Amino acid sequence: MKYNLAFTLNGSPVEVLVRPEDTLLDILREKLDVMSPKRGCDSGDCGACTVMLDNEPVRSCLTIALTVANREVRTLESFVDHEGKLDPLQQAFHEEGAAQCGFCTPGMLMSAKSLLEKNPNPTRKEIVSAISGNICRCGAYHEIIDAVESFVNHKGKE
Ligand code: FES
Ligand code: FES
Repeated sequence: MKYNLAFTLNGSPVEVLVRPEDTLLDILREKLDVMSPKRGCDSGDCGACTVMLDNEPVRSCLTIALTVANREVRTLESFVDHEGKLDPLQQAFHEEGAAQCGFCTPGMLMSAKSLLEKNPNPTRKEIVSAISGNICRCGAYHEIIDAVESFVNHKGKE
């Protein structure tokens, strides 16, 4: 049995038929062609599938799709503007070499973005805490934290 699910995705209304057991990650990647959330562990451990649900970071592999009905989901695709220009936080990741294989990067960016929306001037410790649920198998933590810190230190000064 399938159900019609309606929600807002990156600012636009979407509707999709889903099974009760489908996760948000399943429908984003397999039905809506939104590929930034990655399927890493598929069990809530790595953070690669992180998206924002009503402005809070969630693991889309653990989120039952039907629970997002009439709510707002944001993914990394929402960062890029219409001309394909990177968001300044993405640019900071690029400049600091914070993306190696890049698999963890969308989840890291979503966790960092969520922090920055609530706290525009986080300390290094707060940045570490915000991304503590995101695993980087390349071990690029230092560069990732530097990138968020660099964004915080330079925003509004360009
Ligand atoms: Fe969701 Fe790892 S794929 S936490
Ligand atoms: Fe490869 Fe983080 S850059 S997993």
